[in-house]
Amino acid sequence: MINWKELNGLHVISKLEEILSKWFGVEVFYTDIHYKIRSSHVEKGHEFKNHFFKVQMEMPHGYDFVSSDIEKFSDELHDSKESVMVFDSHFHGAKVIAAKIEVDGEHLGNVFAYPFVNDSFTEHEREELIAQLVESGATQTDAEGAVSHLKALSPHEVEYLKELVDLVSDEVETFHSEISKREARIHMLNSELGEKFRYHNMIGKAKSMQKIYSLLERISSSESSVLIQGENGTGKELVAKAVHFHSPRKDYQFLAVNCSAFNENLLDSELFGHVKGAFTGAMKDKPGLFEVANGGTLFLDEIGDTSLSMQVKLLRVLQEGTYLPVGADSSRKTDVRIVAATNKDLKTMMAKGEFREDLYYRINVLNVNLPHLRERQEDIPILMDHFLKKKCDESGMAMKQYSKKCMEKMLDYKWPGNVRQLENEVERLVVLAGEDKTITPDLLSPQILDYGAPAAGASSRGVNTSGKLKDALQELEVIMIREGLKRCNFNKSKLAKELGVSRASLIMKVEKYQLDKRKKAAGE
Ligand SMILES: Nc1ncnc2c1ncn2[C@@H]1O[C@H](COP(=O)(O)OP(=O)(O)OP(=O)(O)O)[C@@H](O)[C@H]1O
Ligand SMILES: [Mg+2]
Repeated sequence: MINWKELNGLHVISKLEEILSKWFGVEVFYTDIHYKIRSSHVEKGHEFKNHFFKVQMEMPHGYDFVSSDIEKFSDELHDSKESVMVFDSHFHGAKVIAAKIEVDGEHLGNVFAYPFVNDSFTEHEREELIAQLVESGATQTDAEGAVSHLKALSPHEVEYLKELVDLVSDEVETFHSEISKREARIHMLNSELGEKFRYHNMIGKAKSMQKIYSLLERISSSESSVLIQGENGTGKELVAKAVHFHSPRKDYQFLAVNCSAFNENLLDSELFGHVKGAFTGAMKDKPGLFEVANGGTLFLDEIGDTSLSMQVKLLRVLQEGTYLPVGADSSRKTDVRIVAATNKDLKTMMAKGEFREDLYYRINVLNVNLPHLRERQEDIPILMDHFLKKKCDESGMAMKQYSKKCMEKMLDYKWPGNVRQLENEVERLVVLAGEDKTITPDLLSPQILDYGAPAAGASSRGVNTSGKLKDALQELEVIMIREGLKRCNFNKSKLAKELGVSRASLIMKVEKYQLDKRKKAAGE
């Protein structure tokens, strides 16, 4: 499809139109393959360069005459080998030139130049044309004015005009192929980006995220229930939305309910609704989320926090598609897809009898397990950039950047609150930086700024002193190597000497704990 809108604003083309109007008195317009005029001639307030065309378009059926001409000439041109032809319009003596717009052998539309007469046009023919215009609804004055504005062209001029109209169509073709190329490139870049870095609203290029994207692709088209597991702020809700908005249910509602935010009774009425008089204060019937989300998706967040009796009710909806509103005496039907999430270990809960096994297997048909941000450290920089851009845009600020040191600090940090914490931190930084373009480490939250830094005099700060001795020693080792690397500017020989270990052993440990930040930052 040709981008007609952009075409109309194109400089070369409007220049050509101007020349054609000035020298030959004709108006240039475009039509698509459905014979539709795609230039401003059909819009209100269009300024006609040619008076005859103007009078014609203002006549009661003026547009219909043009339309039927367009249809006839387009078809003739389509069947002809010629790329440009002269036609006789509906109005005796008034002529049209039409040129094909053809890209890669495909006929996409036409360029028309209209109207003019041959220089052999007689006074008698002129009278006849005026009469025809009047017959078609123009006033005598308009008709005379219109005909007097028709330019009489010699055969030589007509040939020349044909060439120029063909040139206009060449320009349109070139423009179209360039646009297509540009669009193809954008599309390619987009899909490349889509493949590697994102799915719906989720950002991440780590292998673990790639796996999740392809899993989601498969999950979305199915109807089965989904259980999303992951720690706080890992993006569980984002996944639930992605599942819904990529599914055939996307035109229906996506509703989320946080099961831990309600007490037993309230959750009951929230999910299943209640009938009038079901309890004090139930003044009228209230539909539950299972009714409102009918046809769509219901996201049961924190499902691990539901009581055993609620679990029985949920199981019933999942198995039979029926539920009982509070106070009702007959059950109702619903068709919702359930996506549930939890950061609890449901298996342990099952073992303790706190979560029903049958419900677990019913919701866990498809399982998405989100990695901790720490386990996809290579995504930290792109998430940082993503949120930085988002926050700057939202607050109408010019795009900022992180200083190298600040970036390093954020990479080092453990992010116990995962992506949410990272997002909040970036938001904070953008606010604190104010007008400054660069975000410096002194703005960081203290826990991030101080993370891993040895306290004055003491070397064991931040190391767990409870738990297994082996783990604590390992943690200390990591801290000593990380700090040492920075101190020695990543000179491993120097650090090995300082720590009293061989260079090979240090390199092994750096690999094992993934402490080479220069590699990390490069996303390797
Ligand atoms: N992969 C990601 N890409 C972009 N933004 C993300 C990603 N993961 C999470 N976020 C953002 O982080 C915030 C937290 O995400 P979300 O609410 O989905 O996490 P959650 O796992 O449901 O957290 P909680 O367990 O606390 O309910 C949201 O603002 C979300 O947009
Ligand atoms: Mg959540």
